[in-house]
Amino acid sequence: MTRNSAGVSPVWHPMTQHKVSGPAIHVERAEGAYLYSRSPEGEERAIIDAISSWWVNTHGHCHPKIVEAVQAQAAKLEQVIFAGFTHDPAEKLTRKLLSSVRTSFSESGADSPKLEFAFYSDSGSTAVEVAMKMAIGFFAAKAKNGGTARQKVIALDGGYHGDTFGAMSAGSRGVFNASYAPFLFDVTHLPFPEKGMEAKALQAFEGYLKKYGAQTAAFVFEPLVQGAAGMRVYSPLVLRKMATLCREYGVLLIADEVMTGFGRTGSMFACAQAGFVPDLLCLSKGLTGGFLPMGATLATRRIYKAFYKDDKAGQFFHSTSFTANPMACAAALASLEVWEEEPVMERIAGIEDSHRRAAGWFVARPDVADVRVKGSVFALDIADEVSGYLSSVGTEIYDFMLEHDVLLRPIGNVVYILPPYCIGKEDLERVYEVLWRAMDHVRDMRVVMSQKAA
Ligand SMILES: Cc1ncc(COP(=O)(O)O)c(C=O)c1O
Repeated sequence: MTRNSAGVSPVWHPMTQHKVSGPAIHVERAEGAYLYSRSPEGEERAIIDAISSWWVNTHGHCHPKIVEAVQAQAAKLEQVIFAGFTHDPAEKLTRKLLSSVRTSFSESGADSPKLEFAFYSDSGSTAVEVAMKMAIGFFAAKAKNGGTARQKVIALDGGYHGDTFGAMSAGSRGVFNASYAPFLFDVTHLPFPEKGMEAKALQAFEGYLKKYGAQTAAFVFEPLVQGAAGMRVYSPLVLRKMATLCREYGVLLIADEVMTGFGRTGSMFACAQAGFVPDLLCLSKGLTGGFLPMGATLATRRIYKAFYKDDKAGQFFHSTSFTANPMACAAALASLEVWEEEPVMERIAGIEDSHRRAAGWFVARPDVADVRVKGSVFALDIADEVSGYLSSVGTEIYDFMLEHDVLLRPIGNVVYILPPYCIGKEDLERVYEVLWRAMDHVRDMRVVMSQKAA
């Protein structure tokens, strides 16, 4: 590893407290559900990637079809400016992506809006930034014709939408963004519809819209599962009611499916389970099968048309240099073909079955406060004095799991499993089994520590 004059690696890793964390694990290659590293003695070490490398990987690492598509594209056209130019991978991907969205939402009712346009960017954060700019810009354009320039944005408490300033603004305030709070724009965070508290949350939601609905441009939300908040699951019915209320008040629906999209919650897109089509759909992570960075914001004709003018000043002002990068488009296209050619949905259903069985074992543990399963997502809360991101339980579990060659990255006291869909049943059983032992280990350590303190 390269080291600088301070004796540390000059590589600055994300979400890492370098002063207390050990050296990063050097990964040489990956295949399927496995990452391969090398021990100091030169032996290959296989680590189960049970979090799909930060929720991006869908079909497994280095899926041969995607490898081939990216290799072929790289040799043909690696990058081209996307303003005034286009290319086959972007055109084909757009057709296939919109058709996949249409199929997934086919039961959402004939009066639902249709997502007909795709705008590309580089990440989940930018997909959300673009959607918010489109929503606010939509009402700004309307204002020029005598409408209202709505300037309020609402979101759910606990939501996470990325780390650029607009996306941070949409996200809940907390340790992640405390230093930047004075620089974030105002977003009203309404109560999360916790199980048993749905009626109260809906009441607050409706109350807000009654007062400010006419000034509100958009509702930004993670449908069904709030990922970074600790895989918090909520009811599709409540989400549907919130969406219906938004429609009543003309508030645009921005579905952030950066994590939930591409099968994570058991359907291709989570909003489909709530039975509505959003006005703006944000996608990333699984879009390229987890291969290359890419974001997409899908929009309705109504939104597209707000920027479709004779006047150049009325266009949608947003660009990123690598918009619709041909290799990323080729990866996304190949990934969508894998969905058509392989039994991906059955794999997800199999994972959900295994998760449900495991949930039955874990829920009986006295150190477990809650267990949740939604599609390929399994999460449990470990009872701890400190809950939330700063709980040390997560680090202890992380270390134990890695010592046993399983990658889990708990969010504080929330431990979750979010595997690539290709994971084998035996590997999944191994993840549960090691997690069980990790929890025993943490429990025993706590007992020893409290005895020492006494
Ligand atoms: C729901 C959601 N939105 C947005 C983002 C940001 O995506 P990215 O890290 O690609 O910018 C994330 C990342 O975890 C996410 O979970």
